[in-house]
Amino acid sequence: MNELLKRAAELAGRILKNEEVLVVTHIDADGITAGTIAHTSLLRAGVESGIRFVKQLDESEIEAIKDENTFVWFTDIGSGVLNMLDGIEFAITDHHLPQSHHPMQLNPHDFGYDGAFELSGATTTYLVSKYLRNGRTLFDYENDNSDLLPISIVGAVGDLQDSRWGMLKGLNREIVMEGLRKKQIAVLRDLRFFGKQTRPVAKMLEYNSDPFIPGITANESGVLNLLESLGVDPWVRWIDLEIEKKRRVVSALVSLAMDFGIPYTSILRMVGECYILVNEEEGTEKRDAMEFSTLLNATARYNEAEVGMGVCLGDERAYRRARTLLQNHRKNLSDGIRFVDREGIEELENIQYFHAGSNIPDTIVGIVAGMCFYKGNREKPIIAFAESDKGVKVSARATYRLVERGVHLAKALKRAAEAVGGVGGGHSVAAGATIPEGREDEFLKLLDRIIGEQLRG
Ligand code: C5P
Ligand code: C5P
Ligand code: ZN
Repeated sequence: MNELLKRAAELAGRILKNEEVLVVTHIDADGITAGTIAHTSLLRAGVESGIRFVKQLDESEIEAIKDENTFVWFTDIGSGVLNMLDGIEFAITDHHLPQSHHPMQLNPHDFGYDGAFELSGATTTYLVSKYLRNGRTLFDYENDNSDLLPISIVGAVGDLQDSRWGMLKGLNREIVMEGLRKKQIAVLRDLRFFGKQTRPVAKMLEYNSDPFIPGITANESGVLNLLESLGVDPWVRWIDLEIEKKRRVVSALVSLAMDFGIPYTSILRMVGECYILVNEEEGTEKRDAMEFSTLLNATARYNEAEVGMGVCLGDERAYRRARTLLQNHRKNLSDGIRFVDREGIEELENIQYFHAGSNIPDTIVGIVAGMCFYKGNREKPIIAFAESDKGVKVSARATYRLVERGVHLAKALKRAAEAVGGVGGGHSVAAGATIPEGREDEFLKLLDRIIGEQLRG
């Protein structure tokens, strides 16, 4: 931990030597929050800052960044393509599997932590922002940037870093503790379902997919019957229910899940820590880290990352726009799931896959794959393909159980993608790649073999 913080301070010192810094970040909730933290803390330290949101760092994107001829701070991105950054002066705060070590990189993997669970792009970036305050301050700025802590938690939750144990652990935990001390966040033990702030209980239960509970998930009449039998008004929000009624609902869900043989660990994860942004209004998406992160994904994954950043910075107009985008995002997710239900999932020996073609946007096909995975076969990693402007986008998701048995998706996708002329990376449990069109079968065959090897140790 000390070594990691020392590196954070070194990076901050190097960053502050510049009059101008370009922040380059990733287009998801973790990336938006990471970028917002970097950008805001730079401005506060008196450094001019621009921000650029990218889907991935490929050659053309890297060339464009080089042309800017300025110091670059990569957040939630960069470690996977470190060896391609020659000719750029940079700092990286990222948690993706790094290609190599580098003195200007802060990445939990380099310090013995697992970047999939213990520190996200945003929480890594937050650690550096804490050291930026002593910079070339233009005005008397006393803040230690801890007001940016809550959105860093939103980033970690957006990457599902809390989902393995139903709580944030590792270095993320230190940040949670700091947030509690400084009264920036509150932690509640509660049902870990999406929509507790904003949706009627009935809708919250119907749309929850982790775990997939037969008769409840995606089953409106099943939900209404259950709530009626428990004497719970289906149309109030979860946050408005009395504690006694919440208890009734939770125990009913647990016993249903047990009846259906849902794995014990998945049942345990239903209840856990929920992170509350205490300075945000109750009953809004921004109050709850899980809902906040989905709101951000609904902007960045549709080319409106600036809107997401506006939401993080408290801009009301951006917030209204984001809520409209959220409706659209929800519809795309349910259309995507329906598409997969209709077309089916193919199985190979060690993996399963579907090809969405142009039916699911490449920016959300990974989320859809994850949701289909929850309700389907969980014994084999799921691989999804979708058309993209740069070739074929690949998204892969595994379970923690598979990871414990040796599966490492980032390593496997990287190898298989490179063998067919593509690029890939990410984390053990969730990874992605881009490969040339027409090479899918070859890629699948190879990946199937690699995952088999990983499982056999
Ligand atoms: O690029 P980045 O690291 O920000 O994204 C991580 C991705 O991994 C997110 O899309 C997140 O939803 C996904 N993930 C997942 N299942 C997990 C952990 C992460 O689908 N258990
Ligand atoms: O796009 P998707 O959500 O499936 O990405 C899963 C994870 O894989 C993310 O952490 C993403 O940053 C990473 N990824 C990567 N290289 C790619 C594509 C995705 O590292 N070419
Ligand atoms: Zn991330």
